Amino acid sequence: MDKFIIRGGRPLSGTVEVSGAKNASLALMPASLLARGVCRLSNTPALRDVKTMASLLASMGVYLTFNNHTVTIDTTGVHNQDAPYEHVKKMRASIYVLGPLVARYGHARVSLPGGCAWGPRPVDMHIEGIKKLGASIELKGGYILASARRLHGARIHFDVSSVGATGNVLMAAVLAKGTTVIENAAIEPEITSLARYLVSMGARINGAGTSTLEIEGVDELHPADAITIPDRIEAGTFLVAGALTGGNVSVEGVDPGHLTALLAKLEDAGCSLETGASSVTLHAPPELRPIDVTAAIYPGFPTDMQAQWTALMAVAKGTTVVTDTIYFDRFKHVPELIRLGADIEIKDNSAVIRGVAGLTGAKVMSTDLRASASLILAGLVAEGSTEVLRVYHIDRGYETIEVKLRALGADIERVAGEEF
Ligand code: EPZ
Repeated sequence: MDKFIIRGGRPLSGTVEVSGAKNASLALMPASLLARGVCRLSNTPALRDVKTMASLLASMGVYLTFNNHTVTIDTTGVHNQDAPYEHVKKMRASIYVLGPLVARYGHARVSLPGGCAWGPRPVDMHIEGIKKLGASIELKGGYILASARRLHGARIHFDVSSVGATGNVLMAAVLAKGTTVIENAAIEPEITSLARYLVSMGARINGAGTSTLEIEGVDELHPADAITIPDRIEAGTFLVAGALTGGNVSVEGVDPGHLTALLAKLEDAGCSLETGASSVTLHAPPELRPIDVTAAIYPGFPTDMQAQWTALMAVAKGTTVVTDTIYFDRFKHVPELIRLGADIEIKDNSAVIRGVAGLTGAKVMSTDLRASASLILAGLVAEGSTEVLRVYHIDRGYETIEVKLRALGADIERVAGEEF
C-alpha cells in the first residue's frame, strides 16, 4: 500500500484544475442501466471509486471504456442483475444499482453494503422507498432480493434527507407506472445533476434542485450523454490547503454556487476570496480566526469537508467547535491529527479544537477518504516530515492529489508499495 511523504512549511500558490465530481459520477454511471445502448459521461474523474463502479457494472455485462476522462458505457449486453458482496464491500455507493435494476429488469440481487470506518451507514431508506414503489424485497444471507413485475408510482417522504436514498428511489421511479412524489429529497448538486441527466434520457421529473421531486413514470428511457459537474469537495480541499499554508490558491473549473457555505466560513476565518464564473481564488491571512462549523445537509457546510476544516482550525488562533449533524462519529482523523500535535477533544458529535502554534510531522494512518485528506493538509503545514500511510483511501476520491499539490509548490511524494 502506498504512502505519502510530505515535508511541511511551504505556502501553496498557483492554480489547480478541479476534476469531475466523484459523487455525481457514482450516480450517473448506474443510471445508464435504465436504458439500452451507449451513454457517454465526460469529465469523469479517474478515481478508484469510479473504477470500482465500472467493474461492478462490467460484472453485469455492461461494456465500459475510458478515454481522456470520458467513460463510454454500453448496456446492450447486460446479462445479470447481481451486485455481489465482493464488489459492494469495496464501496457503499454500489447500492445505487438497486433502483435501476429493479426498474428496468424487474429484479435485482444486491449485497447489503458493509459498514465503513465511521459507523453502520444503513440503507433502510433505500429499501423502504423501493418497496413503496411496489417491489417485493427480501433480506437474505446479506443480500437484498428485490423483484417487481412493474413498479408503480407512490408518495415517498424521507424522514431524514438522504443523498443515496433520494438517488436510488429517483432512478427507480422514472420507469414506474404513474406518478411518484419524493418529499424531503436531498438537494445536493450531485442529485440535481442526476435528475437532469435522467430528464435528458427521457424521464419526466419536476422539481430538480428542490426537496420535492415529482416524477411521471415513462415506459422506456433512451441513452444520453452528460458532462459531469465539478467536484465541490475536491475544490474545497484545495482552498483549505491554501488557507492552511498561508498561500494563494485558485481553483478552476468549479461552480462557486456549490461552495457557498465553505466560502463564507473561509472568509470568516480571515481569508480573502475572489470568485469568478468558474473559479475561486483564495488569499490566506497571516493568522487564522477560530470559526465554528456545523456540518449539515446542502446547502449547509458539507460533512465531507468537516475533517479538512478540523485540520485548518488545529492551527487557528483560539478554540473552535466542529459539529457533524450527518454522521455522529465521523472523527477517525482526530487521533491522527493529535499525533501531529493538534489539541482536540471529541464531545458527542463535536470536536473541540484548541489552536496550537504549530504541528510537528509524524507517521499517521489514513482510515477513510476525507480523514486522509485532513492528514495530508496537516502534513503540508507541519514542521518536518509527515508520512501518511495507506493512501489508497485518498485515491478513492482525489485524482493524483500529490501531482496537483506539487504543482502548487508542496513537497510531497508517493512511495509505492510496501506494507505499512
Ligand atoms: C453520500 O453518502 C456521499 N456519498 C457521502 O460522501 C456524503 O458524506 C453523504 O452523502 C452525505 O452528504 C456518495 O454520494 C457516493 P446519506 P450517502 O444517505 O448517500 C443516514 C465522500 O466522502 N441514512 O445522505 O450514503 C446515514 O446513516 C462520501 O465522498 C439512513 O439512516 O449519505 C447518514 O446519517 C462519504 N438510512 C444520513 O442518513 C439510509 O437508508 C445521510 O446519509 C440512508 C442514509
